[in-house]
Amino acid sequence: MSVRVERDGAVVTVTIDRQDALNALDVATLTELRDRLLELADDADARAIVLTGAGEKAFVAGADIRYMSGLDPDQAKGWGALGHEAGRLLETMPKPTIAAINGFALGGGCELALACDIRYASSRAKLGQPEINLGIVPGWGGTQRLARICGVGVAKELVYTGRTIDADEALRIGLVNAIADPVLDRALETARELASKSPVALALAKRLCNLTLGVDHSGALDMEAREFGELFASEDAKEGLTAFVEKRRPSFVGR
Ligand code: CAA
Repeated sequence: MSVRVERDGAVVTVTIDRQDALNALDVATLTELRDRLLELADDADARAIVLTGAGEKAFVAGADIRYMSGLDPDQAKGWGALGHEAGRLLETMPKPTIAAINGFALGGGCELALACDIRYASSRAKLGQPEINLGIVPGWGGTQRLARICGVGVAKELVYTGRTIDADEALRIGLVNAIADPVLDRALETARELASKSPVALALAKRLCNLTLGVDHSGALDMEAREFGELFASEDAKEGLTAFVEKRRPSFVGR
């Protein structure tokens, strides 16, 4: 098993563990990751997901280059689709996903982190989209998500040059939310905090924030206005608002 899933209450840590290849993703590992994410997306007991890499050196050093070197175009399309499935699950599952970037996050590794809702980096993390140096381009969403998160000007420079950046630069360009050591502790702290909030409101917050990725701006604003109103039918909204007025901590029931 090269993907470990550990639970601490409602917080789930998913660790990619293929250390002899700096956690690069081969077919078996990526398939396993996709399958675990599919399960977690539907698991109401899992309220916040942290994604990280095993060992001291790498988050994920990318897609497995040795495997990719033998692919024909049809096989490469299937490989791209599998990576996209994992990315979409991280981006759309109705609960927060947090990348704890504990080392190299290159190519497909950076792309998986980009698909998460929040990214924290250790001070020795190195990030980038070096595909151009292999004669290819990012294939698991990097050309789109890097531009959306950091702006198209920044993304073009990184994708065109393939250069690797350190944690300080990643923070400066907004690629990561914060630098922390040990990074996993910081990610788990945020995950625990998020797991204590209303899962109904969090799922809606994620769905609404994700609208910036797709539909037209005014349609998204309309949808936000509508869904905001509908959320007031939930028990959690009533509880959260009442608890504030009564100066006590809310107790959310998930309805
Ligand atoms: N695929 C397969 N194996 C990889 C790998 C990868 N992406 N990254 C590292 N490894 C392997 C190395 O081949 C090496 O294996 P051996 O010991 O069997 O030779 C082992 O991991 C350790 O790596 P290094 O000896 O190279 O370690 P280093 O500290 O000298 O360098 C590194 C670290 C800079 C990350 C370097 O390994 C490297 O450049 N790796 C490739 C990074 C990369 O280009 N990633 C993008 C892949 S393309 C992609 O992801 C496409 C996409 O969009 C989907």
